[in-house]
Amino acid sequence: MTSEEAKKKISDLSEELNRHNYNYYVLDNQVISDYQFDLMLQELIDLEKKFPEFVEANSPSQRVGGAITKSFETVVHKFPMLSLSNSYNESELLEFDERVRKSVGNDVEYICELKFDGVAISLSYENGQLKKAVTRGDGTKGDDVTLNIRTIKSIPLQLSGNFPDFFEIRGEIYYPHASFNKLNQDRLEEGMQLFANPRNAASGTLKMQNSAEVARRKLDCFLYYLSSDDDITDNHYDSLTLAKSWGFRISTYMVKCHHMNEVFEFIKDWNVDRRSLPFDIDGIVIKVNDFKQQRVLGFTAKSPRWAIAYKFKADEAKTKLVSIDFQVGRTGVVTPVANLESVLLAGTVVKRATLHNADVIQQLGLHHHDTVIVEKGGEIIPKITSVASDLRLPDSEPVEFIQCCPECGTTLIRNEGESAWICPNAYTCPPQIKGKIEHFISRKAMNIESLGEGKVEILFDNKLVSNIADLYDLKYSDLLGLEKVFAIEDAENPMIIKERKVSFREKTAENIIQSLENSKNVPFNRVLFALGIRFVGETVAKKIVEAYPTLDKLLLAKKEELLEVDEIGDRIADSLLEFFSNQDNISVIQRLKDFGIQFEQESTIKRISATLEGKSIVVSGVFANFSRDQLKEIIEQHGGNNVSSISAKTDFIVAGENMGPAKREKALKLGVPIITEEEFIKRIT
Ligand code: IVH
Repeated sequence: MTSEEAKKKISDLSEELNRHNYNYYVLDNQVISDYQFDLMLQELIDLEKKFPEFVEANSPSQRVGGAITKSFETVVHKFPMLSLSNSYNESELLEFDERVRKSVGNDVEYICELKFDGVAISLSYENGQLKKAVTRGDGTKGDDVTLNIRTIKSIPLQLSGNFPDFFEIRGEIYYPHASFNKLNQDRLEEGMQLFANPRNAASGTLKMQNSAEVARRKLDCFLYYLSSDDDITDNHYDSLTLAKSWGFRISTYMVKCHHMNEVFEFIKDWNVDRRSLPFDIDGIVIKVNDFKQQRVLGFTAKSPRWAIAYKFKADEAKTKLVSIDFQVGRTGVVTPVANLESVLLAGTVVKRATLHNADVIQQLGLHHHDTVIVEKGGEIIPKITSVASDLRLPDSEPVEFIQCCPECGTTLIRNEGESAWICPNAYTCPPQIKGKIEHFISRKAMNIESLGEGKVEILFDNKLVSNIADLYDLKYSDLLGLEKVFAIEDAENPMIIKERKVSFREKTAENIIQSLENSKNVPFNRVLFALGIRFVGETVAKKIVEAYPTLDKLLLAKKEELLEVDEIGDRIADSLLEFFSNQDNISVIQRLKDFGIQFEQESTIKRISATLEGKSIVVSGVFANFSRDQLKEIIEQHGGNNVSSISAKTDFIVAGENMGPAKREKALKLGVPIITEEEFIKRIT
């Protein structure tokens, strides 16, 4: 393919991918299959690798992330990002309406919108291209989070239609419930601190340094306010309708009202319907539609006089703490769960609430039998938000965190700087054993079909398995005929307990033996994930295997070497070293190896040339056209070795913006050449 042809193909593919992204993420209308989309995206990525000179900062390939932001640059907002004044009842809204009518007369039209509960963002576009994304910050200046925002699929990187040359559009970044619950579930399984609610998770995610992780987390965005120097329309509603036609995701739940009764109706409906939305809203925003009237009304120092927020009361209920269970997870992390007197909350019966960890119990100042306030947002499990200490019984004692494991009696430990208490008895503590086996067989790990739904518990109860390696000793005759009756709570009404019998019939037993056999082909990165090492999730496991394609090499790695691997910090490195220093773990791994489980993986890197053969290269800083991961892959494709720290052996450094001064100084001292991304691309083309 000639360079001209490649340029044209890259541009055509980008346009087509942008269109499909818009169809899928904004219009909710999937035109091509995920598979076709991935093929097209892969074609673009491959072409961009061969012709890096044509990579655009807003290419659809940039949505997968990979670029690192070391520290977020502070940006002064062109128009300050104000907040809204709040109201909590109809009479406050009537006062707002009266003030508006006094200023602009009786001919007023209001737009009612949902008040999204997330993090405010300001996006600026130049000639249809996303230029900058800045957080609200203190309202005057915020953080430049553009690299992270580019990974949000519903935010257009390239607009279509008749848009102004320059404008800003504001909106809310939020965490959809489904992604949030999955995120917390994964964190729970990896023994990490949970996010308290989707808003905190959205805000934490936007400030992550690695945009590839942001891409994985699946944030979303609604836009609700367009500001431009040119007068494009004369009212707010039309401005958002126009913005929609350029490619922005605008909520369809937006109505025009001419009377406050219509506003109250909208509020009343959404106060109920919000529970079925797949994201959190915390109220309704009421805006004067006409821009001329908005200008007459103007602003106070803090907020526009032409808009007001109506805040919903949180879904909360008062109930009594009955007792606390301490649940032990597969990594040994002990999670306190409060048992409550049953109470109706947001349409469901609640009788349990998570307390997260010892710090949360302490912050709440929780005493036994306290009256507590429980709240439910986007989370599956409700949480205790406060204690009604005025209703406390005079002789009730503060809740103390347990010191020994409730399952095996081992003294709990707490690592420095962590809030979780852990039972260190990984090999004989029953819930840890069962949890580890359940994790090992799960779909994303070894994918051993037919062993779910309580079957692991049956095998454990019958002393057939007490660690993951024992699974491979199972025989058809061991399994056939095993059964157990489980008591299950009804999801709608926890007062109803149902019984379910789980049994191993011929077909089940056959399937289990076959799936165990098939799992011997599962690649090393998934095996590493399946081992259930604390903090080693799917993505981290992949990164480790890219750097250490065989277990033998990984076992020899020193901490400093592990720290050189992308995405591996102190916590993960320590966890790996601790896991591999445990003799029980090593003997289980040895047995798995003997059974034929994969502990090595061939490199998936496709070689393009030997131009960089034998060269040790450091990639440092932030780049205009590539993510750091993409540059590293290009280096490997041309035979080079990526190293993370500069030494006399380093051949050269590819430096982007923000390369640390200490690194630069070291390079100069050792005489290691520093080249730009453009110079690097010239070397290999
Ligand atoms: S309008 C000058 N519309 O609520 C325009 N804000 O408490 C001000 N918010 O900072 C914003 N949904 O982050 C507007 N439909 C909506 C909104 C909305 C959520 C947020 C926004 C703002 C905060 C004020």
